[in-house]
Amino acid sequence: MSQEIIKINVTAGKIDVLTSPADIVAVAVYSDGKGGEVFTRLDKALQGALSQVRSLGDFKGEANTTSVVYGNAATCARRIVMVGLGDRKKFTLDTLRQAAGRAASRAVDLKGKKAVFSLHEDLPKRTDMAQVGQALAEGAHFGAYRYDEYVGKSKTGDGRPAAIQVAIAESDVAQTRQLNQGVKTGNLLGEAQNFARTIMNRPANVVNPASLAAAAKKLAAQTPGLTCSVMDEKQIRAKGMGGLLAVGQGSATPARLIVLKYTPKTNVRKQTIGLVGKAVTFDSGGISIKPSQGMQDMKFDKSGGVAVLGAMKAIAAMKPAVQVYGIIPSAENMPGGMSYRPGDIIRTYSGKTVEIQNTDAEGRMILCDAIHHAVTLKCDVVVDVATLTGACVVALGEWRAGLMSHSDRLVAQIKAASEACGENIWHLPCGEEYLDLMKSKIADLKNIGGKWAGASTAAAFLGEFARDVEWAHLDIAGVGMVDGSTKFGSPGSIGFGVRLLTTFVMNESKVK
Ligand code: BES
Ligand code: MN
Ligand code: ZN
Repeated sequence: MSQEIIKINVTAGKIDVLTSPADIVAVAVYSDGKGGEVFTRLDKALQGALSQVRSLGDFKGEANTTSVVYGNAATCARRIVMVGLGDRKKFTLDTLRQAAGRAASRAVDLKGKKAVFSLHEDLPKRTDMAQVGQALAEGAHFGAYRYDEYVGKSKTGDGRPAAIQVAIAESDVAQTRQLNQGVKTGNLLGEAQNFARTIMNRPANVVNPASLAAAAKKLAAQTPGLTCSVMDEKQIRAKGMGGLLAVGQGSATPARLIVLKYTPKTNVRKQTIGLVGKAVTFDSGGISIKPSQGMQDMKFDKSGGVAVLGAMKAIAAMKPAVQVYGIIPSAENMPGGMSYRPGDIIRTYSGKTVEIQNTDAEGRMILCDAIHHAVTLKCDVVVDVATLTGACVVALGEWRAGLMSHSDRLVAQIKAASEACGENIWHLPCGEEYLDLMKSKIADLKNIGGKWAGASTAAAFLGEFARDVEWAHLDIAGVGMVDGSTKFGSPGSIGFGVRLLTTFVMNESKVK
């Protein structure tokens, strides 16, 4: 059977790196070679072993590099992991998030259960210590994550830790308090992100619309402030959600509409935010079937919906003063005798009709109904998130998600959230000229545009269903996963969107 995902917990405390027993002590090193006080003390205790690694040139303190030196009787810690922060001048909070990720990842590989981090020495003046604590905790959760629930114990090795304790070492009491404030948020976000990663990583024979709905119900049952209702295929048909119905009709596991609701204790601004996420549990392309190469990655086509699920978990724990719906349309896009076809004309929930020209452009067909549902629930703001187009991957690669919107205010808010949380985006257009390409001669819209600007034409299509609300769209097709050979940690999903959506909602709740 499957094994449990590693549990990670982070705290900050008055800890001395020399006298505290630990499996690893992680110490930060900038590439200019000037070690901080902690580095110097450790180096002394090790009779210069750390500086020797540097002078040999085996470790230069570059960002995203690490080097392990073994402890002695004078260090208490079994291992010292030097973690590069790179160029001092390029320092951002994400430098720390990445460094903590590297350190935590090394801890897992070295089968360590207890890690002490001293990564936040020598920061630029006026760095907010709560933000430092949050970034370190988020990084630790991210880096210590492994998707190995179906890997036999023999392969993960004896003693793969079931849980990792990370202690951030700080000598100052006031700073420790501030760090811990941020650590609390970082633990919540890190946990929610890893929760999402696990569901994203699970294959389509495990996660289908019904089992995803069950997972959402389970989350709501465990989470105060969160409720969940699910529409089955019959209810979807009765409501007139023709897009979601059509995409799901070719599958043996029919569609669901999952609606999570977070109700705040007080809603000062009387604002309601709708987070809408595409959850296609497998995208074969349907009748317009995809080439077989790489098709296995289409298990990740539920990532937008699962990011919404993870964000709702974090939001319920962080308790913003706004109402939030998490709306997750879920379907499996399969070819078969019951499938929708190219040429079909679908009446969507909004009443608008859509001519299907390619059944592989299915994401927009389920999202348009979910967005309209958000409108009927009286959301003021709607943000949808979806692995929507290969064109967005061509434009932005795996580094940034595309952001499209009708609202300059939302663009600014989402950009701010992105900068704060370290999940990167890039603003792309979705105006009239792109919408023109989505107009059909025999229906209100068609579901594909021309050859060019596929990310923007898809967004323009979605925008038509969100005319009366503030709306933004995140195309996360490129940022959904890593192959493991180019980045550290676990191959598969990086849980993109959980931090971004949560940060956005928390910021919205503070807008005056
Ligand atoms: N799920 C795919 C988009 C995708 C592609 C996600 C690559 C992740 C990596 C989406 O449903 C799709 O198939 N889009 C088509 C749209 C086209 C038919 C207009 C695409 O991008 O090719
Ligand atoms: Mn598709
Ligand atoms: Zn898709």
